[in-house]
Amino acid sequence: MKTFTPSEITHELRRLIGTRRVVAIIDEKVDRLHGTLFPFEKIVIEATEERKTLATAEEIVHQLLHLHADRDTLLLGIGGGITTDLCGFVAAIYKRGVPFGFIPTTLLAMVDAAIGGKNGVNVLNFKNMIGTIRQPEFVLTCPNLLRTLPPKEFRNGVAEMLKTFIISGQNFGESGSFFAENELDTIFCTEAKMAQLCHFITESRAVKERIVKEDEQEQGLRRLLNLGHTFAHALEHCAKISHGEAVSIGIVCAAKNGHCKDIDLIVNTLKQCNLPTEIPADIDKKMLLEAISQDKKIAEGRCNLIVIHAIGDVRIIPTAPGAILC
Ligand code: GLY
Repeated sequence: MKTFTPSEITHELRRLIGTRRVVAIIDEKVDRLHGTLFPFEKIVIEATEERKTLATAEEIVHQLLHLHADRDTLLLGIGGGITTDLCGFVAAIYKRGVPFGFIPTTLLAMVDAAIGGKNGVNVLNFKNMIGTIRQPEFVLTCPNLLRTLPPKEFRNGVAEMLKTFIISGQNFGESGSFFAENELDTIFCTEAKMAQLCHFITESRAVKERIVKEDEQEQGLRRLLNLGHTFAHALEHCAKISHGEAVSIGIVCAAKNGHCKDIDLIVNTLKQCNLPTEIPADIDKKMLLEAISQDKKIAEGRCNLIVIHAIGDVRIIPTAPGAILC
């Protein structure tokens, strides 16, 4: 996977799109900061979890109809995971499916949300309860777009990246030290640090792509990528907490449930990267377990819990919700 500079991305987009019509579905913040890079017809959206709903998907469909977008129109999702999820979902249902591509603009979307083909919307505050699995034609990564990302958003991506490296067993220590030592603004100060960032993005994305290629429909191996997410989605349901923070706490819960031999290293690394490692004290554990029991991964009363035995040794253990440690 290659990463692109802003001028390369314009060129690459032109090559990939050819003569096709494009409608961009773009986060309003991204449009304000980087909109001139993307001279397409646009549907500008407010990308919040609260607005990642069927109603918003329907509003986008209305706008596509208003623009007379047809079945050959390519939808280009430009933004973080909320935007790419909405775009991919609408592309799957509009006129029974139109082509789509992504330009992720957050670290989390570059390494996780925009990769893998799962796209969907929230229902009743439950994350991604309705969705589709359909691969984008392309996902173009331009790390320069991260310059304008708020530090908290950047850390959300670091959490997903560390999750992926715990699964693969590679790059965990190196990336952990890099992100512990470098805030976003210092990374953009030197070529060498930028190159390191691009390297970790590429490695993390490659792990996910390898797994998705082997098991797109999530029948087995792909479930490993849900590491920390059973807890994370339940935490997000119960409290106002960002996805990356929830994943970070979820990783520690997964390590506890796997009696992980590397738990101290994992907890210390997450802490050094300014990520939380404990369930907030004001969260009612009963409510949390109730939310866990709504998890999409529950089947026959058991949750396919992803637990960490060690870095590089992550396993799927069917567990009754009542037996989950959190
Ligand atoms: N879009 C995220 C995934 O497929 O995992």
